[in-house]
Amino acid sequence: MSIELDAQRHALTLHTVRTSYQMDLDTYGRIRHLYYGRRTGGHMAQLYPMMDHGFSPDYYAGRKSRGLSPDTSLAEYTGANTGDFRVGCLRCTNADGISGADFVYTGHEILSGAYDVPGMPCAHDQDGDCQTSIVRLKDAATGLELHLIYGVYERDDIITRSAKFVNAGSADITLTRALSVCLDIPFGDWELLHFHGRHEMERNAERMPLMHGIHTISSNRGASSHHHNPFVVLCDRSATEDQGECYGAMLVYSGSHRTDIERDFLGQTRVVMGIGDEMFSWQLSPGESFDTPQVILAYTHEGIGALSRRYHSFLRKNIMRSKFAFAPRPVLINNWEATYFNFDADKIVSIARQAAPLGIDMLVLDDGWFGLRNDDDHALGDWFVNTDKLPGGLDKLIARVHDMGMKFGIWVEPEMVSEDSDLCRAHPDWAIRVPGRDPAMGRNQLVLDFSRPEVVSHIADCLTRLLSENEIDYVKWDMNRNISDVFSHALPPERQGEVLHRYMLGVYDLLERVTSAFPDVLFEGCAGGGGRFDAGMLAYFPQIWCSDDTDAVERLSIQLGTSVGYPVSAMGSHVSACPNHQTGRTVPFGTRGVVAMCGAFGYELDPAKLTDGEKDEIRGQVARYKRWQSLIHDGLFYRLRMPENSDYAAWMSVREDRSEALVSVVQPHVHGNTPPIFLKLAGLDPDALYRVESFDVFGCTRTAPFDRSGVPVGSAYAGSQLMYAGIAMQRLFGDCPSIQMHLVRI
Ligand code: GLA
Repeated sequence: MSIELDAQRHALTLHTVRTSYQMDLDTYGRIRHLYYGRRTGGHMAQLYPMMDHGFSPDYYAGRKSRGLSPDTSLAEYTGANTGDFRVGCLRCTNADGISGADFVYTGHEILSGAYDVPGMPCAHDQDGDCQTSIVRLKDAATGLELHLIYGVYERDDIITRSAKFVNAGSADITLTRALSVCLDIPFGDWELLHFHGRHEMERNAERMPLMHGIHTISSNRGASSHHHNPFVVLCDRSATEDQGECYGAMLVYSGSHRTDIERDFLGQTRVVMGIGDEMFSWQLSPGESFDTPQVILAYTHEGIGALSRRYHSFLRKNIMRSKFAFAPRPVLINNWEATYFNFDADKIVSIARQAAPLGIDMLVLDDGWFGLRNDDDHALGDWFVNTDKLPGGLDKLIARVHDMGMKFGIWVEPEMVSEDSDLCRAHPDWAIRVPGRDPAMGRNQLVLDFSRPEVVSHIADCLTRLLSENEIDYVKWDMNRNISDVFSHALPPERQGEVLHRYMLGVYDLLERVTSAFPDVLFEGCAGGGGRFDAGMLAYFPQIWCSDDTDAVERLSIQLGTSVGYPVSAMGSHVSACPNHQTGRTVPFGTRGVVAMCGAFGYELDPAKLTDGEKDEIRGQVARYKRWQSLIHDGLFYRLRMPENSDYAAWMSVREDRSEALVSVVQPHVHGNTPPIFLKLAGLDPDALYRVESFDVFGCTRTAPFDRSGVPVGSAYAGSQLMYAGIAMQRLFGDCPSIQMHLVRI
């Protein structure tokens, strides 16, 4: 059993194969967190001597004996206004003016299988591995009940958590902060690894020591955002990719979020995570409940790489619901960077015609096919085909593409509306904006008020019509601005703080309806690139366009940073034209392919502008990608070298049975008279022999006359040799050369 109850000590332990998580009831009936870490037995109370700390108040019942304070005890979830002065999970007031809650244990349940989080995506129990525990608590003064819900995935070494509030009192309660989890770690010097960025430069890994005080990672943009991803790792100061203690906390939510990490006066570390509380409030009338989004927790003592691989496998297996999660993905060509808004049916067909013989499987028609959408300023919301551009409609275009043996995909941005659109003219109150104030415009568009069910239903009807009337194989679902001027015409004044979360519930409702009605359509998420790359979206989209920045050098930081939490198979990644449209940089065609292959691969360029040589390169790239797609997507992913710390970046994918591996190296900075590229490989079977099956160099302009590769094709090495001693590759010349090396166990 993965959940163990010690009735005598009032302790509950959640075991996974390699971790244990423990809580108990303290002397005064409050739930106390005891331990999360490497698997162990026993009751962990030995960690917590009774100690009295000045200015840390005592529970009333312990006012004479002292030594146990709400301000220093480890919590599973915090109350509020109860003498715990650290950063908390909750802020609430009831109609009588009583602020906060002091939660006392009232009961618990242990259930088999996974739990649901109503209205929100959450992990399912893919292979009967999960047990659920619900711990119930109550605040006597307000009647607010709290259910702490734990999902224990034994073989996956994952614990999911969520909290549910029920107003069991007689007065209304207003929640103004209701986070999902508290994770308290009593000892240790931790570093925070988090993923910051901006549009066209998402999820750059940044690691920093945690000092005393509170550090916040958050988004108040109504989306998980390009800027701060809702995923954090705490790792010990010496942790590397291959060793050291790490905790991960990943929020399954795509809206505004907040994570506070506090190192307190005793050196204890607290992480609280959940829905962002900026402009958040929620009215709970007697009998009503409120659910918080799920958090996926993982712990390992085997380094950041092991933590990543745990998340990769869990997200693919237990979060993603699409039948494409484990399926080979079509290699696509998208017309956005090829044409922007400037296309007609013949141009799209000509892109497809030139792409098909190169091995490309699918044509994706991006923005501009509907309404009067010839630039950014018009027609979002008018989801009917523009027959001036596409005479004969989508039907005819799709038939022409399908006739070439290619699949057909299409772009939509369902959550948005242009001021200049039929939809906005018909329903001006359907856009989110404050009455009497000019709204801030993002890309000259407004956000539809998805907190209103009728708006969600209207868009669901449009998408249903689009997908049932046309043979569409793939949808790119975009979202190109953040939400400001938050206000809904459909909610009373006291509920305006609910708009952003209700918006997310509306988005999830729409996604649920559309993706379950069209299970054979491959959906790719997008939000101006990777502005909503999170576990919530991955429940519906097995792949998400990783960034609008398609420059291969920039993509190294973006993709490797993203890979700390999210699987490679989920990262939409394309080869685009050079000079690159975002940076003006020129990277060799071959290297662009090597980088894009670390993802769900495709092209974003105009084949009419390619030389014959480049077309040959595409043929080679597509063939290599198709040969290795399952190794790259289903294999275990190892980051060997991050570009921030080195002149080169390197990563590898290893089949789970360790029978083959693909090593990729990209060198953005080439120097004169340089040392060789040195790498220690990872994940191989130390006792097996591996043969170098292929060793391809891209973008290398010459070789030095006396240089010879240290790893010639056909040579064989023990796994232990490759991992413990390493390999050195010959120096490369040119602007951003790269290497792909395929190893096969013999
Ligand atoms: C966003 C996407 C791009 C493209 C454009 C179209 O920026 O990230 O890939 O689809 O919208 O407007």
